[in-house]
Amino acid sequence: MAAFSYLWTADTYAMFYRHILKPLLFALRIERAHRTVLLLLRIVGLLPGGRWLLRKCYAADHPALEREVFGRRFRNPVGLAAGFDTGGEAFRELSALGFGFVEIGTVTPRPQQGNPRPRVFRLPKDNAIVHRIGLCNRGLERAVAFLRRPHDGVLVGCNIGKNTTTPPEEAPADYLKLFRNLYEYADYFTVNISCGNACTEGGSHAREQVLRILEPLFDFRRGQNQYRPVMLKVSPDMSDETIDAITDILIETPLDGIVAVNGTHGREGLRTSLTALDKIGSGRLSGAPLARRAVEVVRRIHERSGGTYPIIGVGGIMSAADARAMLDAGADLIQLYTGFIYEGPGLVRDICRALIADAERAAGEPAPARAAEESGQHAEAPEASGPESAGAVSGSRAEEGRSPGSGQK
Ligand SMILES: Cc1cc2nc3c(=O)[nH]c(=O)nc-3n(C[C@H](O)[C@H](O)[C@H](O)COP(=O)(O)O)c2cc1C
Repeated sequence: MAAFSYLWTADTYAMFYRHILKPLLFALRIERAHRTVLLLLRIVGLLPGGRWLLRKCYAADHPALEREVFGRRFRNPVGLAAGFDTGGEAFRELSALGFGFVEIGTVTPRPQQGNPRPRVFRLPKDNAIVHRIGLCNRGLERAVAFLRRPHDGVLVGCNIGKNTTTPPEEAPADYLKLFRNLYEYADYFTVNISCGNACTEGGSHAREQVLRILEPLFDFRRGQNQYRPVMLKVSPDMSDETIDAITDILIETPLDGIVAVNGTHGREGLRTSLTALDKIGSGRLSGAPLARRAVEVVRRIHERSGGTYPIIGVGGIMSAADARAMLDAGADLIQLYTGFIYEGPGLVRDICRALIADAERAAGEPAPARAAEESGQHAEAPEASGPESAGAVSGSRAEEGRSPGSGQK
């Protein structure tokens, strides 16, 4: 019995995904595999003790993993990125797989079918995915119905976007409708301006377009007695100048932080053959090939904003080393999508274990930031990867007194 429980460790669950579940799921078309996983998770969630069991198998809890970001306490800094649970149907089960938070959406006001299938493709040679889903989701009403259920301590971000058929000049009304109606159910919001259908990927009008969307949200929030942080999600295809312009919005307005990045339209440096890529066609590329640009964008935002605003780093995190690189670049929290598809929930656990090990290793010696301070140098203090990362507190508008009560659900 002892031998059995020794063998049946967390690594066994990771291997179960890699060697049994993943081959089965990868034998299905990716959208069918995705629906199957959501269905299985919901079934497990309905079983008595189901979520408890998932947590037991996959979640790594440790004080060194905890983060305080924009007035919310995160169990760990590894979140699930938008696009996996678009309607919020399984956020509690997904959290039980070890995620410190789950970003649902993109939710649009009305349900939409998205683009014709097939529209999501695996690129196994590149550990990547290409998709042109077109924000397929079941709309605001369904999302509210799912989010009304008890959150049981799970931190939920809500990613919002406009309907494809909404003309750009009416986009602010779509965002405001979503924000108003979801306000009480989300712990933070992500405004998706880098979606295929809105959008503002560059050009000299980026600032005005973004402000037209954000300002009504800030006005609405001022009238509420609970504070909900608003993040802005950016595209890796934005020029550096546009990224700087967006960072300046972060500094100059009540915007709380940035989620960087969405998938790219670029196809540079892939192992997948040109013929295969031509056959797949257009779409956003996510996964390993995105990692370098994602880290670059996060570092740029972090440096320009002086390291004082929350950044969620996402893009190409496929290993604990990738997670460290993202945190070292200045991300306060990170998210996974493609890494979760290729590695399963074991990846969340691997990252958490690596962060615990980093914190424990560093506990006995001066942290880099502290060492730099002691030697009289200015330290940029990457909050996340040394012992500072344990229970790290990251800049929050809420802490600046703009939050009339940022109570957590
Ligand atoms: C199939 C798929 C659907 C996605 N849908 C959305 C979405 O609805 N909204 C959004 O903001 N990002 C969406 N994303 C982007 C992810 O949230 C993430 O930003 C991107 O995939 C980069 O992270 P990764 O390399 O870990 O996958 C989607 C990604 C994939 C692969």
